[in-house]
Amino acid sequence: MEQPVTISIDSTPVTVDTGTTVAGAMISQGTTAWRSTRNNERPRGLFCGIGACFDCLVTIDSVPNQRACMVRVCEGQQIDTDTAKERA
Ligand code: FES
Repeated sequence: MEQPVTISIDSTPVTVDTGTTVAGAMISQGTTAWRSTRNNERPRGLFCGIGACFDCLVTIDSVPNQRACMVRVCEGQQIDTDTAKERA
């Protein structure tokens, strides 16, 4: 059995199973939308889940515009969402 990993989502520590995608980690915490559209500010998050739509973009370890559905979590990873930037 693999060890769980601890990541940070918008500065909140979260422990998830190894092999989970970043999007899966966010969904497991009850977060279904972490971006909004430029026009009308409609919520966006996991949509296609296969890397095609780019609705799930997040900043991972200071690298912006990463598809959360395509990146697996690793220990100490820092995930920042647009939603958190908008709150700041
Ligand atoms: S959900 Fe479509 S690219 Fe990630």
